[in-house]
Amino acid sequence: MQTHDQIYASTKLEFVMAETPELTIRKVEPADVEPVRRFMKRTFFKDEPICKSLKVVVDDTVDEGVVDYCLRFLGQGLDLVAEYNGNIVGSSCSNVLIEKGSSLVERPYTLTDKGKIVKDLLEYVEEMANPFDNANRVFLLNLLSVDPTFRGRGLGKKLLIESMRVAKEHGAQRVMVECTSVFTNAACRSLGFRDVFTLKYADYKLDGKVVVNPEPPHYAVVVAAFDFDQ
Ligand SMILES: CC(C)(COP(=O)(O)OP(=O)(O)OC[C@H]1O[C@@H](n2cnc3c(N)ncnc32)[C@H](O)[C@@H]1OP(=O)(O)O)[C@@H](O)C(=O)NCCC(=O)NCCS
Repeated sequence: MQTHDQIYASTKLEFVMAETPELTIRKVEPADVEPVRRFMKRTFFKDEPICKSLKVVVDDTVDEGVVDYCLRFLGQGLDLVAEYNGNIVGSSCSNVLIEKGSSLVERPYTLTDKGKIVKDLLEYVEEMANPFDNANRVFLLNLLSVDPTFRGRGLGKKLLIESMRVAKEHGAQRVMVECTSVFTNAACRSLGFRDVFTLKYADYKLDGKVVVNPEPPHYAVVVAAFDFDQ
């Protein structure tokens, strides 16, 4: 298995970034929290498979309950933002370090009906994925988004790699990603993550009915994990 440093050294993404010097990735500072929230509303909440299936954004009106729930960990020093000529074009955010036996600090949120569906589904998946199997300190990468005009060029993968670096800096033993999109899962697999739990959307039912039905090719939430060498 490759170590994080080997993956970092071998990735062709360094080359892509070197070719685009206007593209930078840095940590989210307190002043970035609102701009990142706006960016996520414009990109993630519109296109992420679960949110798209639940119609979290309708005619540019966003279900703020879903946004509040999903961004409840934003601003804890574990988020990254990618900028192109000073404009946000990507983010890995609402990331959190979870420790066995410790409680989490979250922003307050009020759950809407759609927010509750998202919460229940993700909590179920997280429980089934068993984050503390052989690890006490786990970095959960919660949200990943790239501006539509920048997609498919390696930026999502680069944000994942940089988030792994942040996780390592904070002493995490494991990075976990709840991949609700097949593209995130593809990126994780090519970075050496292993799939630890899969829930097909068609198998997740409430009162006998499928509640989330994303468009193909998205078919499941796959929890992917990467364990750092101890
Ligand atoms: C998911 C997302 C962040 C990926 O960002 P990206 O910059 O487009 O991703 P990358 O270019 O780094 O590609 C990641 C992987 O997906 C694949 N991929 C990306 N777009 C693809 C497409 N349209 N068709 C097929 N494969 C695609 C890439 O080939 C790569 O896989 P590989 O490593 O095996 O080559 C982006 O699609 C997005 O913002 N989607 C909306 C929000 C969302 O769904 N977030 C993820 C929730 S888990």
